[in-house]
Amino acid sequence: MNLVLVRGLCYIVASIFFVFGLKMLSSPTTARKGNMVSSIGMLIAIVTALTAMTDIKWAWIIAGAGVGSTIGALAARLVKMTSMPQMVGLFNGFGGLASLLVGWSEFHGRWADADATRLFTMVAIFLTVLTGGVTFSGSLVAFGKLAGMVTGKPMLYKGRNAVNAVILIAMVALGIFFCTQKIAQVDGAGLYIGFTGIIILALILGVLSTIGIGGADMPVVICLLNSYSGLAACAAGFVINNNVLIVSGSLVGASGLVLTSIMCKAMNRSLTNVLFSGFGSATSAKGAAYKGEAKPVSAEDAYLILEAASSVVFVPGYGMAVAQAQHVVRELGDLLADNGAEIKYCIHPVAGRMPGHMNVLLAEANVPYEQLVEPQDVNPTIEIVDVAIVIGANDVVNPAAREDESSPLWGMPVINVDHARTCIVLKRTLNPGFAGVDNPLFFKENTRMLFGDAKASIMLLVSEFKH
Ligand code: TAP
Repeated sequence: MNLVLVRGLCYIVASIFFVFGLKMLSSPTTARKGNMVSSIGMLIAIVTALTAMTDIKWAWIIAGAGVGSTIGALAARLVKMTSMPQMVGLFNGFGGLASLLVGWSEFHGRWADADATRLFTMVAIFLTVLTGGVTFSGSLVAFGKLAGMVTGKPMLYKGRNAVNAVILIAMVALGIFFCTQKIAQVDGAGLYIGFTGIIILALILGVLSTIGIGGADMPVVICLLNSYSGLAACAAGFVINNNVLIVSGSLVGASGLVLTSIMCKAMNRSLTNVLFSGFGSATSAKGAAYKGEAKPVSAEDAYLILEAASSVVFVPGYGMAVAQAQHVVRELGDLLADNGAEIKYCIHPVAGRMPGHMNVLLAEANVPYEQLVEPQDVNPTIEIVDVAIVIGANDVVNPAAREDESSPLWGMPVINVDHARTCIVLKRTLNPGFAGVDNPLFFKENTRMLFGDAKASIMLLVSEFKH
């Protein structure tokens, strides 16, 4: 059989593996298998692509695979769960950088092409370096924000949207120049200066468009950058004429966009508002300062409340990840279930610092999937829940989103834990969460504050139950 045909078939098989792998990732029960299926698809794609190469430099391939695998294996073992979000941000960035480098290297070999496909190739190279560059530098900024290396608040200056628009227009103008130069008139040096100009502008645009976003909007940015990295890979696929790269890039691009839209909905914001409004900056609305007396509760008293409860909803948040409390949370959940209570774990789509953060942690602790629910499953009947126990969550349970029109969180769907009969909040202080917005929940009549590290507090509750 014709080798080209066999390769085409292998690419189709790899694409089918990607699609099924992605589908399996949508449920916690099949997610691990989905990861494996997608990895096999990637292996098929890489081996097939390698067989298509003539004059292959195996030493480079083996060295690259060795370095990449070592970094991946070390990162998987050593990076703490709480640092996963920034690692995901960094991986998005490397995806963008890889596409940018593919576009750059192809520029060297292709700019002098004289055939009819030149315009198409040049447009593809332009789009690859543009999206790759924006993804790379934007992801580095997102990484810095999530890792606490730069301020998490939006860094704003007057006329920032105009500056970004001017850069974009300059890039498109350079792109038109770059793509439409007739080969007979091409001045290699001039074209190269234009090309590097596009790369530099793309990198600047990535930084400027991401530094202006912060606070609680970071989930949207991460999803959007993920989508950009897919689009960059897709464009790179057109540059090197590799079908499986086009398919996998499109899948990442499209799924990133779907996730972006889910995140926007979860925060009741439009994408344009997230990208251009500078939410959470020092100058944007802070909402009212809530006064009142928080009612601290001891572990012994919290135990008595829980012991009498017949329905309990756990609401995990970023603090659970920091405290690494997921295993003791499950232990407490099991003890409560043994005590006759109905248990649910309610996960807000933007809880934690990355999409699915809480799902991953609770799955790691083997919390039964059927106990995981979403806010819309819990909110309508939360009045009949005996105890809502909030573990290191803050923004996602802030009632100001419902009650205070001046709050930056106004309109964001939250978990209405304040409507439960009793709400126990586990955190160390009364400080605000990621969005920097004060939380009136702490002063509500039915709220009790169990101050301290979430893991230590839950361990105390567990030992109360056991004794
Ligand atoms: P946050 O609002 O960030 O609140 C987390 C709370 O955990 C803090 O108020 C902190 O209070 C507490 N905490 C920290 N360490 C703790 C420990 N060891 N023990 C007990 N409590 C601890 O978290 P959330 O409710 O999960 O909301 C997530 C926020 O992050 C949203 O604003 C969201 O938009 C944003 N965000 C989300 C993502 C994604 S994709 N999920 C990505 C980036 C940003 P103390 O300091 O008083 O203990």
